[in-house]
Amino acid sequence: MENHTEIAYAYKCAAFPYSEYNQEMVSGNLKVTRLAGALGAEVKGMPLADVDAAQVDIVKSLLLEHQVLFFPDQFLGVDAHVNLGRYFGILESHPNLNNPYTEHPEIFELAASHGGVADEWHSDISFQANPSIMSILNMIKCPDVGGDTLWSSTYAAYEGLSAPMKDLLDGLTALHDAAPHCKPDITAIHPVVRIHPETNRKAIFVNEHFTRRIVELSHQESRLLLEYLIGWIASPRFTVRYHWQQGAIAIWDNRCTQHYVLSDFDEERIIQRVTVMGDNPRPAGPPRWEPFTRTEVTGATSRFDQQLNKHLGREVNTLASNKK
Ligand SMILES: [Fe+2]
Repeated sequence: MENHTEIAYAYKCAAFPYSEYNQEMVSGNLKVTRLAGALGAEVKGMPLADVDAAQVDIVKSLLLEHQVLFFPDQFLGVDAHVNLGRYFGILESHPNLNNPYTEHPEIFELAASHGGVADEWHSDISFQANPSIMSILNMIKCPDVGGDTLWSSTYAAYEGLSAPMKDLLDGLTALHDAAPHCKPDITAIHPVVRIHPETNRKAIFVNEHFTRRIVELSHQESRLLLEYLIGWIASPRFTVRYHWQQGAIAIWDNRCTQHYVLSDFDEERIIQRVTVMGDNPRPAGPPRWEPFTRTEVTGATSRFDQQLNKHLGREVNTLASNKK
């Protein structure tokens, strides 16, 4: 345990973004292996079924450094999974899907075959005012081939932008909604660039799945910029791809990563997830511009402002000729 505590301390002191070790770090039973340049590490030698607070501190430090962690061969039961999640904060089950685990409301289970997975880049539950801080996934059953998950570092994606683009994005906000869960009326506005509360690094916080509109831009400008950013975040150099084995646990930080599940399998794929809630995205800077919406109905394109006007509580003036 002493080793674990020392390692945790060393991680807290380590300069971000790069580790002092290049690929692999071994201390006692703990072995940490980086899987890609931008993010991701596999951790062996730490049974998660009976962790204590000191070991959780190590996991937290490793997560801050690597953004997504993989723990193979854990085979956690439902109780152990929930107990692990509770070390990190308040858990919430998925708000928009039925939960088969009524005795464990914190567990969200998704069973799929022939696809049926989230094959769009996203951070979990970003449509809520206080979205998810992190997620812990338990791979119950997975295909031999296919069904991999990719994560992208939104730190690395932000840091790879030009100075003028960073400057623009720092002053913008974006509207997110739960339309992918058939609930488009659940909306939230978050900064386009956020500052991670623990590392103070900037990260892009718009995603393909839940982000609808950049608030301060016109519909057309927003569409172009979102399309660019979504493609940029998906650049292979910012990503890590994980091929699952049954019994593996993955823990990721939703504040600085997005993920994408490949819908390329024909066998059964069952995951269980607990989600740590309570995030409060902190903007990179103060608001610089007013929302760009038209409250007068001037033509067919006015419909693109309807959702944002509704979220902002702006009353729309319909032309008299359109009321007939
Ligand atoms: Fe997800």
